[in-house]
Amino acid sequence: MLILVTGGAGFIGSNFIRLLLKETSHRAVNLDALTYAGNLENLAEVESDARYRFIKGDIRDRALLAEIFAQGIEAVVNFAAESHVDRSIEDPAAFLHTNVLGAAALLDAARARGVKLFLQISTDEVYGSLGPTGRFTESTALAPNSPYSASKAAADLLARSYHHTYGLPVVITRSSNNYGPYQFPEKVIPLFVTNALEDKPLPLYGDGLQRRDWIHVEDNCRGILLALEEGRPGQVYNIGGNAERVNLDMAHNILDLLHQPHSLITHVTDRPGHDRRYALDSSKIESSLGFTRGYSFDHGLAQTVQWYVAHRDWWKRIKSGAYQKYYEGMYGKRLKKGKE
Ligand code: NAD
Ligand code: DAU
Repeated sequence: MLILVTGGAGFIGSNFIRLLLKETSHRAVNLDALTYAGNLENLAEVESDARYRFIKGDIRDRALLAEIFAQGIEAVVNFAAESHVDRSIEDPAAFLHTNVLGAAALLDAARARGVKLFLQISTDEVYGSLGPTGRFTESTALAPNSPYSASKAAADLLARSYHHTYGLPVVITRSSNNYGPYQFPEKVIPLFVTNALEDKPLPLYGDGLQRRDWIHVEDNCRGILLALEEGRPGQVYNIGGNAERVNLDMAHNILDLLHQPHSLITHVTDRPGHDRRYALDSSKIESSLGFTRGYSFDHGLAQTVQWYVAHRDWWKRIKSGAYQKYYEGMYGKRLKKGKE
């Protein structure tokens, strides 16, 4: 198939394109606006592959979408999004523009073209926050708590409605927290790993007892590929890691792997509206599509930490640019207060 992958220069999208080209005979067109999170270095390995093509552009650009779909697009995997919760708290509008209006433009273009599948990459955050027990299933009611998760829930429901109303063959995946190579160092694992490598404090929000369910990005990408090739239109598939960890313990794991002291952890003012716990029940994709994971959290985290150790140039370049202003704005005051 000729697949339009949007947001393919970001973290999960670039890992997905590498997997797609390595393990299938599909062809990929990567449409990415190259925002602060998009980085063509992530795809250096495949840039000369004859089955791969990059187009710089915005998923909201309907004229561009019409041109691209006319080239014979058969399926869409929509990764393109503003993806960081903290940034959504600072500037919700950007999230509505890309995550909602962008998804709407893509759905319209896919409908006009008549694709075989539209795969919407959604998130477990659409379910909101869990108490101490239980896990989210695909039928849990959506209750997003941040502007980011509300925008993702809107796109998820819009995709659902295009299946219901127009018969567009839509599949939705909702994955838990990804980690692994090429993740932008604003997300907690690469932020903590790279700060630890620079002997800088690890800013842990609030009491640090929030829990996340971690999945290695390669495992999520394998789940997405399964959903693309074998998923049933109209269905939602949770893709979790079965690896729930308390943030504080995860920070200890990182510091231990790098032989750095736990005293680098600095408790800072909490994220407003911070979700306490996520955990996914992935039995549907496991039993219906045969999904399995290749990584345990311990193995995946050790591999990821090693990747950041071996790719200092990649993250140093990112951290030396506009990132510094972002970091100062997000953490400057909090870290000063945290030390008092
Ligand atoms: P990311 O921020 O690393 O990458 C997003 C990519 O989208 C970037 O390359 C960016 O340039 C591109 N983009 C942004 N706005 C665009 C626009 N208007 N038009 C075209 N391209 C645009 O994000 P990620 O962590 O790789 O997440 C990818 C997708 O997976 C997102 O939809 C996110 O909501 C979802 N998701 C992420 C996680 C996670 O843990 N990272 C978990 C579940 C779901
Ligand atoms: O659950 C899936 C979601 O996971 C995706 O949909 C989002 O795109 C992705 O960003 C991620 O959202 P989170 O908010 O869970 O990830 P983040 O890495 O920002 O934070 C993970 C946990 O770590 C969360 O409890 C907040 C905490 N944290 C985060 C940062 C950035 C800190 O304690 N300190 C920090 O500096």
